[in-house]
Amino acid sequence: MDQARSVRDRAYAPYSGFRVGAALSTGDGVVHVGCNVENASYGLTVCAERSAVMAAVAAGHRSFEVLALSTDGDDPVAPCGACRQVLGEFAPDLRIVSEAGGRRREWRMGELLPHPFDNIPSSGETR
Ligand code: THU
Repeated sequence: MDQARSVRDRAYAPYSGFRVGAALSTGDGVVHVGCNVENASYGLTVCAERSAVMAAVAAGHRSFEVLALSTDGDDPVAPCGACRQVLGEFAPDLRIVSEAGGRRREWRMGELLPHPFDNIPSSGETR
C-alpha cells in the first residue's frame, strides 16, 4: 500500500482529477507499480491497474498475489471491468485491497469477476 500511495502522486489525471496508484505484488515479494495516464483523447486513458500489469509482464512476472490500490476520493473503489479482465488473466484468485480517505475495502477476484472470458489454449500459452 505504501508503494500504491507513492505512485499515485505520479498519476497524470488532468481531466478527471482522480489519481489512482496501483501496486501489484508477486508471490516472491517483488512489487510492480502503475498509475493512471490520461489523454486529451479521453478514451485513450490507461488505468493504473493495467499500467501495473504491463510493467510486471515486461519485467518478466506473470503471477500475482495482491493488488494494492490507492485513490483520491473518500471511498475505496474496485478496479473497472476492463482491468478485472486483464488482472484475472494472470491472477484468478487475486486479493485486492483498496484505500481512499483513510478507509479500506478488500475483495477477491472471484467476487469481482465471477465469469471471466478465459478461452486460454489448453496447451498453455507461455510465449
Ligand atoms: N481509473 C483507474 O486508473 N482505474 C480504475 O479501475 C478505474 C478508473 C482511472 C481512469 C481515469 O484516469 C480516472 O480513473 C477516472 O476514471
